[in-house]
Amino acid sequence: MKIPLEGSNSIIIGEALASEDVNLIYPNEDFSRQAHLSSIHKYLEMYGRSVEDPAGFWADIASEFYWKQKWGQTVYTDNLDIRKGKVNIEWFKGGKTNICYNCLDRNIDAGNGDKIAIFWEGNESGRDASLTYNQLLARVCQLANYLKTIGVGKGDAVIIYLPMLMELPIAMLACARIGAIHSVVFAGFSADSLAQRIVDCKPKVVITCNAARRGPKTIFLKDIVDAALIESAQNGVNIDVCLTFENESALQKEMTKWVEGRDIWWQDVVPKYPVTCDVEWVDAEDPLFLLYTSGSTGKPKGVLHTTGGYMVYTATTFKYAFDYKPKDIYWCTADCGWITGHSYVTYGPLLNGATNVVFEGAPNYPDAGRCWDIVDKYKISIFYTAPTLVRSLMREGDEHVTRYSRKSLRVLGSVGEPINPSAWRWFFNVVGDGKCPISDTWWQTETGGFMITPVPGAWPQKPGSATLPFFGVQPVIVDEKGVELEGECSGYLCVKSSWPSAFRTLYGDHERYETTYFSAFPGYYFTGDGCNRDKHGYYWLTGRVDDVINISGHRIGTAEVESALVSHPQCVEAAVVGVEHEVKGQGIYAFVTLAEGVPYSEELRKSLIKVVRDKIGAFAAPDKIHWAPGLPKTRSGKIMRRILRKIASNTLDELGDTSTLADPTVVNQLIALAHC
Ligand code: PRX
Repeated sequence: MKIPLEGSNSIIIGEALASEDVNLIYPNEDFSRQAHLSSIHKYLEMYGRSVEDPAGFWADIASEFYWKQKWGQTVYTDNLDIRKGKVNIEWFKGGKTNICYNCLDRNIDAGNGDKIAIFWEGNESGRDASLTYNQLLARVCQLANYLKTIGVGKGDAVIIYLPMLMELPIAMLACARIGAIHSVVFAGFSADSLAQRIVDCKPKVVITCNAARRGPKTIFLKDIVDAALIESAQNGVNIDVCLTFENESALQKEMTKWVEGRDIWWQDVVPKYPVTCDVEWVDAEDPLFLLYTSGSTGKPKGVLHTTGGYMVYTATTFKYAFDYKPKDIYWCTADCGWITGHSYVTYGPLLNGATNVVFEGAPNYPDAGRCWDIVDKYKISIFYTAPTLVRSLMREGDEHVTRYSRKSLRVLGSVGEPINPSAWRWFFNVVGDGKCPISDTWWQTETGGFMITPVPGAWPQKPGSATLPFFGVQPVIVDEKGVELEGECSGYLCVKSSWPSAFRTLYGDHERYETTYFSAFPGYYFTGDGCNRDKHGYYWLTGRVDDVINISGHRIGTAEVESALVSHPQCVEAAVVGVEHEVKGQGIYAFVTLAEGVPYSEELRKSLIKVVRDKIGAFAAPDKIHWAPGLPKTRSGKIMRRILRKIASNTLDELGDTSTLADPTVVNQLIALAHC
């Protein structure tokens, strides 16, 4: 049977396909029967409507949420075509709502006040806590009231630099309740990176904690914040209040350095505030949060998401891509410092009234069985993680998995990078005992929510493919000239027309927004990813085609690492490329040119790695430093990264033409130094 999907895309389902393609994994019939979408036909019907009548489709879904005032006549307006003027996207404009109200009050009003909203699992086994929806609302309101008292209001930025404590989603929701714009900075970022973000968004307050526990390590977060606040003051941004949560399992209060007048203990003030707090009704297009992400230049980009469309889209994707039902217990291993933690730890699940597990620790601590111990402890039914974790646990051996029951699991999810078929199969067969569909969700900080994803139960999966577009998403694959390719093809992944949770701008730099995302292929949003579409219409993401590296699902720009390296007094030039890494997906490979007369040494290698850890964060530390007396450059001085990539991956027979280099002998010098 051949079912037209969209234009020339098509999907063939049924026997013919099964005999033709051994990689197809069909949904289990029992699963399909109970699923929100039980067949490809239902999907095609809904998908068809979502692209033919986006306004009607999304307005119907949006009506399930609480709006203080309904949006105006126009559900959405967009212009993604830079040739037609300013790029702009608006959904539900004129509608007044509040996402915190929709996450908490609305679910409580529906009778879920006593349902567990968050199970918190500490780094050390045995340390745990929980909050019902009622209790969560009370905590959120207390913090919201405190923030209001210190002058935080609608449109003010708040930086949150916290580990995965319950206070992290609480802080996000408190900001949303009063219309403040949160900007969560992953607590693995260095003082420099934190300062850069503080200087960019000029928050009214920074929320942090004294220290965090991650695996066997204690990280003194407050010291990092102190250093960042000194640096931001030097750059003209002074912060009056640093609200510090005492994480007593990590560090005693007395041991924390303190700046009187600026630093305030959370526990000293927040619990004194009332447990109810009026909601600030905001326009659907008012900003909800800013999240900094890496691009191909050194300066991180402040991706701005607004309220209404983001709310409707994250809730809907969560419901369908995980086949979420009210009795599910859901765990996403991502940190709220990344977009996954925003959309699918905090907002998507809570909007659906779900019970959510928030885990503070490291997934392999105290041993490689910790995830499955947590799955059994909370009877988790939906488990969402990244391929890097799957691969690292796979290396530890099946016994760490099979000694746990895992019988509560029914849906698995993957995000952050392409999942290689062998990791996919291990996840499916060993973790999921061959019965749980895997939702390999492709999306980005910029997209806000899932774009290409399986809807479990509705169609067969292929290990390594994110499968088909979500409702309302029109992916296109273009060639280098921007010509849309048809059917089976390979090229650059773009998106045609807007979807509700698309980012609206880069904070303070709409021009960069337009040039980075809408200029390369006019008329489309360019994702920065390469992609293949197969004969059944399935999408296969092949990785970034720009200067962005994806390490363990974390995005980092090569330029950011290079500028950290050249800040080392003995480094005059650096060029960074991504290389395949067995566990992390990609690793960072840095070619470094030292100042005249400086000898190579192990000590210098370590101090170069340290400078990157200090400037960006430990997760960005290079895996390899390759000494480079010179870099391969064209006569106009442009570094030929293509050649560096081949040297880094040791595919020397694919070096290609090096005759256009200003100095072709550089290549042999680099090859000779590969093992130094
Ligand atoms: O290259 C794609 C990859 O991660 C990039 C987005 O990174 P970030 O904005 O940090 O968001 C990560 C979490 C959504 C994409 O451009 N990526 C993300 N998910 C997948 C993926 N690549 C392949 N398959 C995925 N499922």
